[in-house]
Amino acid sequence: MSSVPSLNLAGQPPENWVERVRFDFPILQRTVYDHPLAYLDNAATTHKPRHVIEALVRFYEQHNANVHRGVYKLSEEASQKYEAAREKVANFIHASSARSIVFTRGTTESINLVAHSWLKPRLQPGDQILVSRMEHHSNLVPWQMVAREKRARIRYIPLTRQGTLDLNTFERHITSSTRILALCHISNVLGSRNPLAEIIEIARSRQIPVLVDAAQSVSRTKVDVAALDCDFLAFSSHKMYGPTGIGVLYGKPHFLGEMEPLMGGGGMIRQVGEEQSEWTDFPAKFEAGTPPLAEAVGLAAAIDYLDAIGMDKIERHEQNLMTYALALLQQFPGVTIYPPLDCNQKIGVLSFNIGDVHPHDVAQILDTEGVAVRAGHHCAQPLMRTLRVSSTVRLSFSLYNILSDIDQLALGLQKVRDIFLRN
Ligand code: ALA
Repeated sequence: MSSVPSLNLAGQPPENWVERVRFDFPILQRTVYDHPLAYLDNAATTHKPRHVIEALVRFYEQHNANVHRGVYKLSEEASQKYEAAREKVANFIHASSARSIVFTRGTTESINLVAHSWLKPRLQPGDQILVSRMEHHSNLVPWQMVAREKRARIRYIPLTRQGTLDLNTFERHITSSTRILALCHISNVLGSRNPLAEIIEIARSRQIPVLVDAAQSVSRTKVDVAALDCDFLAFSSHKMYGPTGIGVLYGKPHFLGEMEPLMGGGGMIRQVGEEQSEWTDFPAKFEAGTPPLAEAVGLAAAIDYLDAIGMDKIERHEQNLMTYALALLQQFPGVTIYPPLDCNQKIGVLSFNIGDVHPHDVAQILDTEGVAVRAGHHCAQPLMRTLRVSSTVRLSFSLYNILSDIDQLALGLQKVRDIFLRN
């Protein structure tokens, strides 16, 4: 067996706090095929710290009741916790009011809500929806659905060879027919970090509303909707160490005020007549039915956890992991890394291929070494076509990853090479 490239990179022992917080994640204590679990699929979902798991258990054991309905103690407690979670989310992303926070099932539902409820009624034949070539399907398909119905068009901001948005052509893609710009903060495939402030300023000067898909950024860097001045922002709890089943749509009040609800039912009405009903105010008008109560409490616990560590520290740690992984993969024979390759433009997520080995084969072999990565098109087929590949292997980091996870990956890749690329 040929040797694994050895690295001696500057200043890279994991920070002490990382070793400590790993004990907060019960799943990291388990092994996979007798190897320590090296979980590098955090863009798909993150693991949960005990703090979040216990918050869920405590809610069910101590406070479970439906919200905004009962006049008894338990229901009041549950309602208070649900609304406190909304406040916590608002503070976390620097929204000026908790009323701007709509709880949804996740990023996908948040974007669908804006596409169907805000954009569709305003869309005319020939109008344009501006997206980028690096979007996840959840920030493409909802727009395609309304565009098809209203005979509007999707336009794509191209990428540079460096895997970044082509800002030189961005402005040319905005026309008098552009009705919204929908853009990810961080690519779920390349890790490209879009210069949102600059882009939003340009869109603002042309009166184009902006939706930001923050699914990959809220767990990795500070997100400040007030500073960004975006109109909508969407993210999911499960990618930021919280439970599945809950996500967030932030919207500026005048947008949320203009929008009709997508779903009708209990909890979203002011009064119901025989033929017609009146809605209550936002955000409740978008939250028909029993909302994800325990999940909201779990999300609040995840935010407490992130705040206790500090987003600056988390971002620095993820940058260290990226520096290490890039250096290691760049010297690994046969590996093609998809850009950007500059750590200032890339955070948290890295895609590569090795020789002509199919990414599914690579992922399967890595699995036998205890390394979990995602292989495939990553719900970004237009991006795959731009890269001229059908799939890639993807690594994605989190606050609990350590350098030895990446070393374990290198051992697994060595096995891939020995099996598939012997000559
Ligand atoms: N959106 C998630 C990912 O990129 C599932 O893996």
